[in-house]
Amino acid sequence: MVTSIDGRLHPGHFTSAAAGVSAEVLAGHYEDVASRLAADGWIVGRKTMSELASGTERSIATLPIAMREPHIADRNGRPLAVAIDPSGRIHYGHDNIGGDHAVAVLGHQVSDTYLAELREDGVSYIFAGPSGDDLPGAMAQLAYFFGVQKLLLEGGGTINGVFLRHRLINEFSTLISPALDGRAGAPSIIDYRGAIDESPGAGQALRLMGCEILEGGTVWLRHSVEDAAGHNDMPVT
Ligand SMILES: NC(=O)c1ccc[n+]([C@@H]2O[C@H](COP(=O)([O-])OP(=O)(O)OC[C@H]3O[C@@H](n4cnc5c(N)ncnc54)[C@H](OP(=O)(O)O)[C@@H]3O)[C@@H](O)[C@H]2O)c1
Repeated sequence: MVTSIDGRLHPGHFTSAAAGVSAEVLAGHYEDVASRLAADGWIVGRKTMSELASGTERSIATLPIAMREPHIADRNGRPLAVAIDPSGRIHYGHDNIGGDHAVAVLGHQVSDTYLAELREDGVSYIFAGPSGDDLPGAMAQLAYFFGVQKLLLEGGGTINGVFLRHRLINEFSTLISPALDGRAGAPSIIDYRGAIDESPGAGQALRLMGCEILEGGTVWLRHSVEDAAGHNDMPVT
């Protein structure tokens, strides 16, 4: 994730680059660092993927699809572009996002018409249980069907918060831009929307693994996630 020094999510609200610092160089760190992490693909929430996908809704005639079973299309060796989209709101129009093979993680409630649209686009899909919130199960399926071992969770803050709550994050890679957002209540890069007294990171601890200063003054932090001292590994419900 890229963030301001106050931990905010939306680069469009950050202060400008200082004199002599290239805004393009700052913006370019995100993809450069993603390549250095050498993952099998990336995962985003429904809202973030909606900003990236360019398809439109289509009404495709289909016979009833009785079972909610995974559909694995032609990945053709490409990295994965995974969207957590329980209600099936994203329209892809292609089998890829920026060249990476699109995979939808859905809930059982999506319509047959929507599944037919994904098949026509060449998009793969799997199911995360009836309401699409069984994320540990979804990650196990991605490993099983696609053989992936490392995926980059690339936001937004909502889906990052849910992954943290489910203990599905084993490392944080954070690019701190030399910038401020400054708005009270602006979304942050981890924004768990649970009960006010709930701590999504309970039982977990971060350990600093790396710190690098990149061109233009961005600081790249890497933290591993481990069980907090004295924590016994209770499953998340
Ligand atoms: N700074 C960065 O590095 C960075 C990186 C990526 C994105 N972004 C920005 O982040 C913004 C979007 O962030 P966001 O936090 O609003 O949205 P998000 O995390 O991209 O997506 C949130 C959506 O994910 C779906 N979802 C799936 N499973 C869920 C679960 N178990 N609990 C809750 N929601 C679940 C919901 O879709 P439904 O509403 O359909 O139920 C929810 O509205 C974008 O504007 C994007 O540009 C910034």
